[in-house]
Amino acid sequence: MELGHLPVLADEVVTMLAPAPGSLQIDATLGGGGHTERILGATDPDGRLLGLDADGAAVARVDRRLRPRFGERLVLRQSNFRQLGRVAPEAGFGAVDGCLFDLGLSSFQLADADRGFGIRTGGPLDMRFDTSRGVPASDLLGSLDTAELTALFRRYGEEPYAPRIARAIVAERAAAPLRSAEELAALVERVAPRTPPGRRPVHPATRVFQALRIAVNEELDALQEGLTAALDLLRPGGRLVVLSYHSLEDRIVKRFFQQERRGCVCPPEVPVCVCGRSPRLRLVTRRSVTSSPSEIAVNPRARSARLRAAERLAA
Ligand SMILES: C[S@@+](CC[C@H](N)C(=O)[O-])C[C@H]1O[C@@H](n2cnc3c(N)ncnc32)[C@H](O)[C@@H]1O
Repeated sequence: MELGHLPVLADEVVTMLAPAPGSLQIDATLGGGGHTERILGATDPDGRLLGLDADGAAVARVDRRLRPRFGERLVLRQSNFRQLGRVAPEAGFGAVDGCLFDLGLSSFQLADADRGFGIRTGGPLDMRFDTSRGVPASDLLGSLDTAELTALFRRYGEEPYAPRIARAIVAERAAAPLRSAEELAALVERVAPRTPPGRRPVHPATRVFQALRIAVNEELDALQEGLTAALDLLRPGGRLVVLSYHSLEDRIVKRFFQQERRGCVCPPEVPVCVCGRSPRLRLVTRRSVTSSPSEIAVNPRARSARLRAAERLAA
């Protein structure tokens, strides 16, 4: 079977979504289609699922793998999930029972040496999920000044050595542009200290690569817009499930859930609510759910996963 990406917390995702036969589901991040396969299987014999991915290669791969089993029950679109509010109704998914976001990148993308996502895989520094839009990471590295690069590595990578790395990039590119993942990884390795002894060893360029990927794909804005659109599409009782892989993503999900659970957005000093907003979500998970040591042993990607789930209220 062509399945290079193991779905993270797959049982928990299905339990939280609780997909029923005949229901309508959305997988906003198809990847290898592992979650899609499990969700559609749970809606046998007549549930339908709309699957989205910004990456056309992911959509084509899932089409090849799952179409023979699910036929017309699987509806696929290449799209950024920030367009969900338009794409879903156009595809006949204007009111749905469940929506999953499994954020970040897939093992297929990480292993693809033409994409530049992987520190160890190497390749041209592109990092776009959708290679037909936006600018590749190498353009950002070639055009931003030291202050802008520092801010990017701090904001999206929480990188403590951001100024040092930014200065080194600007000095290096004066001689020749930085084009490959190998060159960037080697530069960061040269200027940023290694992980101190006793801490889990991570490559010193991990946070820089994360920051560039987030910036290139405008991931945090897309997440905020995707969550808002998904909530509007959910029927009362419908479930929203999100898997995030770093604190910046998880913070957005947590705040979104808290705000929609509270409803009212009036400042605390206002004695009576004037905004008129009522709660639209009930939390299904009070705290985030994480992977077991046995899952992490077979799937290292699961190590940083955090799952949060909420249910749409009638408001
Ligand atoms: C972690 S993988 C999903 C894996 C999938 N759940 C599975 O079981 O195989 C994340 C996928 O989301 C896609 N993606 C990331 N951000 C996106 C966005 N804003 N819109 C659409 N797809 C996005 C990536 O291209 C990638 O294929």
